[in-house]
Amino acid sequence: MKIAAFPIQTVQDQFPILDRTVRGRRLAYLDNAATSQKPIRVLEKVDHFYRNYNANIHRGVHTLSQEATKEYDDARETVREFLNAGEARQCIFTKGCTEGINLVAQAYARPRLKAGDEILVSTMEHHSNIVPWQIVAEQTGATVRPIPITEDGEIDLDAYQAMLSERVKVVAIVHVSNSIGTINPVKSMVAMAHAVGAIAMVDGAQAGPHLPIDVQDVDADFYTLSCHKIYAPTGVGVLYGKTDLLQSMPPYHGGGDMIRTVSFSGTTYADIPSRFEAGTPNVAGVIGLGEALKFLMGLGRSRVFEYENKLARLAEVKLTELGGIRIVGNSKEKAGIVSFVMERAHPHDIGSVLDSYGVAIRAGHHCCMPLMERFNIPATARASFAVYNDEHDVDALVQGIRATKEIFG
Ligand code: ALA
Repeated sequence: MKIAAFPIQTVQDQFPILDRTVRGRRLAYLDNAATSQKPIRVLEKVDHFYRNYNANIHRGVHTLSQEATKEYDDARETVREFLNAGEARQCIFTKGCTEGINLVAQAYARPRLKAGDEILVSTMEHHSNIVPWQIVAEQTGATVRPIPITEDGEIDLDAYQAMLSERVKVVAIVHVSNSIGTINPVKSMVAMAHAVGAIAMVDGAQAGPHLPIDVQDVDADFYTLSCHKIYAPTGVGVLYGKTDLLQSMPPYHGGGDMIRTVSFSGTTYADIPSRFEAGTPNVAGVIGLGEALKFLMGLGRSRVFEYENKLARLAEVKLTELGGIRIVGNSKEKAGIVSFVMERAHPHDIGSVLDSYGVAIRAGHHCCMPLMERFNIPATARASFAVYNDEHDVDALVQGIRATKEIFG
């Protein structure tokens, strides 16, 4: 299989961590769904902030604060472009995708839901797109219902259609499965939710690094990003929301920068996005995020998707050829994630042997216990690809799996 033309050497040169060795071998970092590595320009942007204009934002008239505020606000505009949102103020900075989902559960759903209402989530959701809904269901008397998935790891759209009724108030679905790489048909699923009057929230944690995203085209009411997976520092996420919905929601956290006036006779709140950004935000992280998104957009996300996908499918072919390996999740639309189980080795054993070959993967339930239960397995080994991976990484993975087979028979 020939890999599409992609400036791989130029890309790899931007990631200093790739120069290190692990257990005496070249690092093959294939745990990108857990977190991605960071390019020099992001590291330098954050370093430059701390060395030259570190200050709090939206609070100071002094030069450093004004410079920090400008960079922070510019990053929001970059996020708008990345998501093709209509307005920058629709993009709220959070500390991660998880916080964005909890924010919607508590500030949108909690005041509206009542006993008898339903929240639909798919069986392949990450715990972060299940548990916040279970919490709000307990608080309101609503019910969380799982949408089944097929043996190939696709959402069962007929079952989904049958579950939709006027009782359904929220549909929460993942765009790309972190466990098995399925790309869900979110645009049509959102439209189906809207047809019964429900709002739809899309968890874009794994779509952000891999796919072009257009929130207006998808017509999602809410869309979340996990930015450390998109080459940005840890501790930053984005919640996109439709303007009228965000404006109708009370604050999630109270504190500085989210108020208009504070008095013991009554406090009024700032407009969006500040209403949802109480306290000093992760200024350095947000500024680093802006740079990370420019890096990814500069590469061209369709080209990135094609490149990563070819590597992942190549890995699937080579692993399957070894025999005794089953790929978990064979959806027609799939991103650069390969989940698999072996006949005789537990995924944790696979992960340990691979580490001795310099290959980093994730082994476990990937925070998707209901999905594991669906496939009747406790865990999988998961290799997840990013822009800096290449065919040597695939070969290292295959070599490590060959060794695992020899050890475990
Ligand atoms: N949700 C991340 C993963 O899938 C941490 O590994």
